[in-house]
Formats: sequence, C-alpha cells, structure tokens
Amino acid sequence: MEVAASAGGGGARTADDIVAKHCNACHGTGLLGAPKVGDTAAWKERADHQGGLDGILAKAITGINAMPPKGTCSDCSDDELKGAIKKMSGL
Ligand code: HEC
Repeated sequence: MEVAASAGGGGARTADDIVAKHCNACHGTGLLGAPKVGDTAAWKERADHQGGLDGILAKAITGINAMPPKGTCSDCSDDELKGAIKKMSGL
C-alpha cells in the first residue's frame, strides 16, 4: 500500500485521467460485474437505491464487494472520485 502524501504538483489531473488510470480497468468492460462506463441506466439504478450520487460515492470510498476502496486511486480526494463517477455514469 502506498502512503498517500498530498504532495504538490498532483492537482492537475482531470476526471478523464482518473477514469483512464484507475477505473477503466474494471468499469470499461464491466469486469467482475462493475457498472460500465456510459451505461447510465445501470449507474442510475444503483444511485436510486443508495441515495443518489453521494450514496454511491460513499460506497466507492469504502469499497463494495469486488470494488476496491477508492477504486485503487488511494490518493484521490472525494471530489476527484465524484468527478470520475460523474464521468463514467453520465449522471
Ligand atoms: C478492480 C476493479 C474495479 C476498479 C479498478 C474500480 N471499480 Fe468501481 N466497481 C467495481 C465493481 C465490481 C463494482 C460493483 C460492486 C458490486 O455492487 O458488487 C463497482 C461499483 C462501483 C460503484 C457503485 C457502487 C455502488 O454503491 O453501487 C462506483 C460508484 C464505483 N465502482 C466507482 C469507481 C471509481 C470512481 C473507480 C476509479 C477511481 C472504480 N470504481 C474502480 C470494480 C472496480
């Protein structure tokens, strides 16, 4: 496990960068049952059952079943994760 030191210079990554680097491995293909990038209906169904975007964000932070905590982006802020979720879900 890396220790996430909030070092400078790391603030310039975009939601696209995070999705490409960390989330797409599973969410790009639906690996292990992950909701797919662009499959808004699948994401919306999850969000609807869990109190909206913030509800699924909370699960993304702690991890859920095969979904690792923070989707392996251990130094992602909550806002960065939320941006990545918005990007993937279209919500
Ligand atoms: C190792 C594979 C993997 C990676 C990498 C991954 N995910 Fe997931 N993710 C999953 C799987 C599998 C699920 C479905 C879990 C379930 O419901 O059983 C999931 C579900 C989710 C959910 C829905 C949670 C819910 O409450 O239903 C969110 C949000 C999410 N991922 C966000 C992300 C983000 C953001 C990233 C990148 C920073 C990411 N994931 C990276 C596998 C992954």
